[in-house]
Amino acid sequence: MLDLERARQSADQKIVPVALEARPGPIDLGGVTVNTWSYGDAVPGPQIRLRAGDLLRADLRNSLPQPTSIHWHGIALRNDMDGVPALTQDPIAPGTTFRYEFTTPDPGTYIFHPHVGTQLDRGLYGALIVEDPAEPGDYDDELVVVFDDWVDGTGRDPDQVLADLKANGMGGMGGMGGDMQGMEGMEGMQMPQSEALGGDAGDVSYPYYVANGRVSAAAQTFAGKPGQRIRLRMINIGGDTAFRVGVPGVPMTVTHTDGFPVRPVSAPTVLLGMGERVDAVITLPDQSLPLVGIAEGKGGAAHVTLNVGPRSSTTVDAAVADLASRPTVAAVGLVAAEQVVLADKTPDVVHDLEIAGPANRYTWTINGQTYDASRGLPVSEGQRVRLRFVNTTSMFHPMHLHGHTFQVRNAAVPGPRKDTVNVLPKTTIEVDFDADNPGQWLTHCHNIYHGEAGMMTVVSYVG
Ligand code: C2O
Ligand code: CU
Repeated sequence: MLDLERARQSADQKIVPVALEARPGPIDLGGVTVNTWSYGDAVPGPQIRLRAGDLLRADLRNSLPQPTSIHWHGIALRNDMDGVPALTQDPIAPGTTFRYEFTTPDPGTYIFHPHVGTQLDRGLYGALIVEDPAEPGDYDDELVVVFDDWVDGTGRDPDQVLADLKANGMGGMGGMGGDMQGMEGMEGMQMPQSEALGGDAGDVSYPYYVANGRVSAAAQTFAGKPGQRIRLRMINIGGDTAFRVGVPGVPMTVTHTDGFPVRPVSAPTVLLGMGERVDAVITLPDQSLPLVGIAEGKGGAAHVTLNVGPRSSTTVDAAVADLASRPTVAAVGLVAAEQVVLADKTPDVVHDLEIAGPANRYTWTINGQTYDASRGLPVSEGQRVRLRFVNTTSMFHPMHLHGHTFQVRNAAVPGPRKDTVNVLPKTTIEVDFDADNPGQWLTHCHNIYHGEAGMMTVVSYVG
């Protein structure tokens, strides 16, 4: 066993066993039945809950027709359990089972998903909640909401979407079916735009958006009472869509992003890039209202109904219109809570990641190159590392780092601790982390189509 993993394990460590099966099958999104791939018979898959310091033992049975893996997004775990085929493990062959076993060191809101091809944009995901045994928990109840954009099983699957993007370039209208093909090259065909995202809102149009696997017409209901304080754990697992989340007229007190605490701030809406998470506390109003996730810039939404009794006269459409007109807070601008601020230190190594694309219709690159596991960004254990994400493109890129939680560098105040940071067009974001978890760790855009079209590289511990 790795020394680091041994050091994370206490003598009385609790083992949390989980059995997962990745499998094809029909899923009801709420009046829309799709043939997709999921963990078990529901989307999202089973919610995994354990405490910081526990050992997760997850047996994954692969009943898919393709190899697969699971990546435990955001967890600083042992490298050989990180779920990246070729880099950290062999792909899990169809018909076989693989045991993931690792200590979960840090409390927070996480997500698990495959790291093979475009599988993430099917129904293969589930929330992973690591509770803090030491946290006061100043709330009455919790609601985990996973927002997703949905195309699989609607006449196309994510592999076809990627193939179309590569064949036709951006504007590949993912969900529109074959009869839109002729329009893709037409002049005046606009990319969806968003002011909050500073430019293009995405490459793919989706026919559906879901919250906890349900379209708005058949939204999930969360039962509560007026005045209750609810901790929202909100996750964006979309393939190509940022979500603007909020409850009309009900301010959210943002408390965490990507698992780590921030100085609490009140916001009407929060913007989540793909792979980002935000926790916020709300006080339930005295009438039922939707917790909405707007597909930013794309004209669609999903929600969960907060049911406190009397129905509000606010329709979901009115809620969406209201929230779309409000200011939105980007997680990158939050301030780290004092106890998670990294010690002040000059970086030992600085790596630039110049993000560019698309070229050749649909190639996205980092430092001019598409993903090659044998080429990476060298770091050494013990170093303070700075990554500079330089976005030269007209689209946002939620850049994710495996196995670490970095600190975003902001002008005057300590930026938030995060593992996924939304880098807006023509901007540069610097992040710092301590190289304290040896291994080979992907860093990539969490737009699944950008990642698969090349926008990935490796933070590589050497010597
Ligand atoms: Cu959630 Cu490498 O990703
Ligand atoms: Cu990207």
